[in-house]
Amino acid sequence: MIPVNEPQLGERELEYISECVRTGWVSSGGRFIHEFEEGWAAYCGRRYGIAVSNGTAALQLAVACLGLKPGDEVILPTFTIISCALAVIYNGGVPVVVDSEPRTWCLDAHQVEEKITSRTRAIMPAHIYGHPVDMDPLLDLAERYGLAIIEDAAEAHGAEYLCQRDTPDPVWRRCGSFGTMSCFSFYANKLITTGEGGMVLTDDPQLAEKARSMRNLCFQSDRRFYHEALGYNFRLTNLQAALGLAQLERMDQIVAHKRWIGHEYTRHLRDITNLELPVEERWARSVYWMYGAVLCDEVDMDASEFGRRLRDHGVETRPFFLGMHEQPAFHLRGLFLGERYPVAERLARRGLYLPSGSALTQDQLGHVCEAVGKALV
Ligand SMILES: Cc1ncc(COP(=O)(O)O)c(C=O)c1O
Repeated sequence: MIPVNEPQLGERELEYISECVRTGWVSSGGRFIHEFEEGWAAYCGRRYGIAVSNGTAALQLAVACLGLKPGDEVILPTFTIISCALAVIYNGGVPVVVDSEPRTWCLDAHQVEEKITSRTRAIMPAHIYGHPVDMDPLLDLAERYGLAIIEDAAEAHGAEYLCQRDTPDPVWRRCGSFGTMSCFSFYANKLITTGEGGMVLTDDPQLAEKARSMRNLCFQSDRRFYHEALGYNFRLTNLQAALGLAQLERMDQIVAHKRWIGHEYTRHLRDITNLELPVEERWARSVYWMYGAVLCDEVDMDASEFGRRLRDHGVETRPFFLGMHEQPAFHLRGLFLGERYPVAERLARRGLYLPSGSALTQDQLGHVCEAVGKALV
């Protein structure tokens, strides 16, 4: 079975992990935490990095820093992972969702303005499957309405967006460089992994300090067990940061390889007329975190059947997200009742993603493409 993803870990990771074991720095102190935070923030063009235990925690912490009041709203895509909506709910806010844009599958920036109310505090765009969100219109809206941007870049390490705002010449900027606070996941299937892990990035020193304190139970340096606010234990370990730092050193290579996988898939599959493939907009450099494929409406099979057939040919796949507005857990809380988002609903039923990990070989990729052809007959 060709797996959907396999992490690629090497000698440098072993060397750094061994240093943790040898020196005893295995918990949340140690040099790798700071070096990973500083290195990842610098890679993304940000001033501060706050490493946390996973990407969901990163989102939760970022929203916590906004200090939402009960009933405050955050606008996010329905087509994303549940972590985005949870981060809002756990902070006493209300998630408000919009549909996806049909080409990139990311939130449709043009639908966001219709959802802005006097309660809206933030927009939370998520770059889906490695392709950037069209950020300029969102940044305009955020400025016009005084909203924060919580950027979910959990799937878009190293992806770039051609920013045309506030500049005479367009500039390529990395995902993670746009949010008031930007969030990453370093789960094992991400471009770089710390096993479990995440990070919040920001340029704002006060937000950075607040996030750092909340990550660590709001301990105070001068009076440790005295608390003026409520926090979380969202700490990352030095062991985990050691893994991340080792991979950060070869980030350019990882991104180039992922882009190669994406372009190879497109080259092999583009003549299959029954399949919609990921696009790369002229303003985007995707990292093809996961290479998605969507069955055209004429195909008399849904994505579950397509996935079963691919499994029979030795290819593991994963279904696309099911929109937040279709989740029973939210209906039970009275959220999204009767709301319909046709693009996300179609993606959920007709989309899946193919093996896309950095360890995928050319032969495996060829095998997957052949299997796709056979499964569609
Ligand atoms: C868009 C997005 N946001 C957030 C997360 C949450 O990250 P984690 O699994 O590290 O909690 C993920 C996880 O894959 C994700 O895809």
